[in-house]
Amino acid sequence: MDNKNKGKILVIGATGTVGSEVLKRLVSTSSDNSIRAAVHSRNRADEISRQYTNKGIEIVDLDYMQPETITNALIDINRLFLQTLPVPDAINICSNIIREAKKNGVKYIVKLSAMGADSKPGSTILRLHGEEEKIIKESGISYTFLRPPAFMQNFITQFGQTIKTQNAFYAPAGDAKMSFVDTRDIAAIAAAMLMNGNNGSNKQHMNKAYDITGQESLSYSQVAEILSNGIGRKISYININENTAKEGLKQIGMNDWFINIMIELFRIIRTGYGSETTTEIERITGRKPIAFAQFIKDYAKAFR
Ligand SMILES: NC(=O)c1ccc[n+]([C@@H]2O[C@H](COP(=O)([O-])OP(=O)(O)OC[C@H]3O[C@@H](n4cnc5c(N)ncnc54)[C@H](OP(=O)(O)O)[C@@H]3O)[C@@H](O)[C@H]2O)c1
Repeated sequence: MDNKNKGKILVIGATGTVGSEVLKRLVSTSSDNSIRAAVHSRNRADEISRQYTNKGIEIVDLDYMQPETITNALIDINRLFLQTLPVPDAINICSNIIREAKKNGVKYIVKLSAMGADSKPGSTILRLHGEEEKIIKESGISYTFLRPPAFMQNFITQFGQTIKTQNAFYAPAGDAKMSFVDTRDIAAIAAAMLMNGNNGSNKQHMNKAYDITGQESLSYSQVAEILSNGIGRKISYININENTAKEGLKQIGMNDWFINIMIELFRIIRTGYGSETTTEIERITGRKPIAFAQFIKDYAKAFR
């Protein structure tokens, strides 16, 4: 990579639910070929290449488990969209990324975190996000932490299969409420912050953390009702106990570590985690967050 590439924005997790939307927004607003997309699996890398042919983005392989790919992806980067994964090695992975970021003079990081990362959470996922935030803070690089609760898009990525095949989704959520947020709203904020992260107009967001939620807190039964109305067939929410949830996750190939952290997460969801709404999306973007009914309308095909 030569010096004319200096000053690029790197989107890590460019095929993820948030990262893919961040990339889309950055490509549509940037005209100076300054975007690099880090992709993991080959087939999804090919998808991105097709989608963005002639759009001037650079695609780079990045596997969290192969540190040399992290080193390569960060060369000449000065702004970073950072998405990590809930895996046992998360802290090490984050440290590797931040070390390379520092080495390359990265000036600004927008990190996809999670609501509650700053509390003393009874959940491994939130604790990991908290520790990753600490690594970034201690690096001295400017940052903005975006802390959503659960994504609306989980109803496609996590519950979509049984919604399509059984007209039902299963979760150990009881009658808990969740302030689901559309990943397009998170991405809109992340992309705007990254674009402006170089020109000083972003000062008010530097070194801040925002809880990014939808406008309403909904129970999983209410979601089932909105889904049913939106797609025109009855979809049911089936509340399951922890053991049934564990068996279900095992059947779809999840490992024990991941199963346990999901069970932990739903345990705190049942006691109210993620039910609080904030007005950050409207305050930052000047418009209301996308409502759940609108999300269903926009993604109706995904449930057929
Ligand atoms: N889901 C939620 O409701 C929610 C709520 C709050 C916070 N978060 C946080 O958001 C982040 C993304 O969560 P998600 O589960 O929804 O993920 P996701 O959107 O499904 O994205 C996962 C991304 O990570 C990439 N990836 C997987 N393994 C990788 C590896 N070894 N090296 C490099 N990239 C790899 C995937 O690429 P491939 O597809 O090519 O493997 C994909 O682009 C996590 O930090 C999570 O804690 C999620």
